[in-house]
This record gives sequence, C-alpha cells and structure tokens, in this order.
Amino acid sequence: MAHRVLVLNGPNLNMLGTREPQTYGSQTLADIEKMAIAEGKTLGLEVTCRQSNIEGELVTWIQQALGNFDAIVINPGAYSHTSIAIHDAFRAVALPVIEVHLSNIYTREAFRHHSYVSPVAMGVICGLGATGYRLALHALAEKL
Ligand code: DQA
Repeated sequence: MAHRVLVLNGPNLNMLGTREPQTYGSQTLADIEKMAIAEGKTLGLEVTCRQSNIEGELVTWIQQALGNFDAIVINPGAYSHTSIAIHDAFRAVALPVIEVHLSNIYTREAFRHHSYVSPVAMGVICGLGATGYRLALHALAEKL
C-alpha cells in the first residue's frame, strides 16, 4: 500500500505567487501542491495537501493525521517561530515530520532564526524554494 503523506502549509502561504516573489518565488500554492501530488505519485506516495491561516486548524489536522497518514511535510510559515501548540501536536502524534521553508530563514531577520517545529522534525529543508517540498517527499520515500 502507498504511504500517505500530508503536506501542510500555514499562514499566508495561500498568497504565494503574489506575496514577495523575490523571497518566495513566483509559483502559486496550487502550483506547488500539484507538483507535490505528481512527485508523490512517481515515488509511490499518496499526497494530500491542505493550507490554513488558523493555528488551531493546523493543530487539529496534525492530531487527525494519527492513523490516517504515515508522515507530514509542513511549512508552518510564521507559526514556526511562535507556535508551542504546533510543537506539542507533533510531539503528541509522533509521526515523522519534515519542516520546509521556501526561503533561507537563517539569512533573514533574527526572529525567523528559531523554529519551534525543528526540534520535533525528522529533518528541515530551507532556502531551496519549491524544490524543498520535492526533496522532503524524496526523503520520506526513502525513509518510510
Ligand atoms: C516561510 C518563512 C517564515 O519565516 C515566514 O513567516 C513564512 C514563510 C518560508 O517558507 O520561507 O510565512 O516559512
């Protein structure tokens, strides 16, 4: 049976394409999700994509992933830097998680240098744009 991977995107990532394209690229979230689903197929992964601007909704989806998904890829957006609730949800479900950021958060403002998700992630990819999501799926295909 194909491994099931949940790809989550957090706040403001629905604005990709028009949001600061010099930082986040010109691809829309729909482009990235389409690519992730197609890439997943080539790797034998069944990819489901969701986006929310609401912290609690992301927490609920992480909780509900238990028993329904084998791993999670998440770009938590700004919640990376603030959300103990998302950190705790990942600890609670103990599923393999790969954290992705389009931009290199370490070359940007100091407030982006810390992520609450990184300590509960299997791996972290940042600075490679949409390629990061593809690489995350490749890593999961090898490790699951
Ligand atoms: C981001 C980086 C975050 O600091 C920022 O708040 C985002 C996007 C990225 O993909 O580079 O919304 O997660």
